[in-house]
Order: sequence, then structure tokens, then C-alpha cells
Amino acid sequence: MITAGRIVRLAERDRAAVHFFLDGDKRRALAGDTVLTAILTSVHLLRRSEFGPELRAGFCLMGACQDCWVWQEEGVRLRACSTSIAEGMRLRTLPPEGWS
Ligand code: FES
Repeated sequence: MITAGRIVRLAERDRAAVHFFLDGDKRRALAGDTVLTAILTSVHLLRRSEFGPELRAGFCLMGACQDCWVWQEEGVRLRACSTSIAEGMRLRTLPPEGWS
């Protein structure tokens, strides 16, 4: 199976489609996905580190390690592994300018 993302979806592929934007690009997920699953079934990195050049893809997948922060375009930071994707969500892999 060819996939565009780091995660390969093996089951539950018939759930309703949900569309979101990642760094301005329209992406497709399935209803019920976490933001982390939605992003990593589409691309190979979850986010860029705000402290260096490293690429991050989450670690614990259960809300403990803080390695999966992504940002909504309006600047709200969210934990990707414990947030559900929603139709039209606009996400960033880097914090907005001036975010702290
Ligand atoms: S992957 Fe560890 S908190 Fe989300």
C-alpha cells in the first residue's frame, strides 16, 4: 500500500471524510481521528520543534510527553494526540509569529 503519511490506516477506512488545512494545504482525515492521526496519515511530520531544527511526530500518543503540540492559525496551541480533528480546522506545524 502506498501512503502519503507516516501512519498507514489499516482499518475503519469507511468513516466519513473530514477536511482540514495544514500549513495552508487542504488535507483529508476521517471522522473520529485525533489531530495527530489526521496529520500523520497525510504527511510525515507532525510539527517542527520550536527550539531547534528537529522534526517531531509525537511520542507517547496518550497526552503525557508534550511532544505533539501544534497550533491553530489563530494561535491557539493544542495537543494533537488528545484533540479530535474537526471539519475546516486550520492547523500549523510551527507557532504563529510572536507566539510565546
Ligand atoms: S504524543 Fe505525547 S502528549 Fe501527545
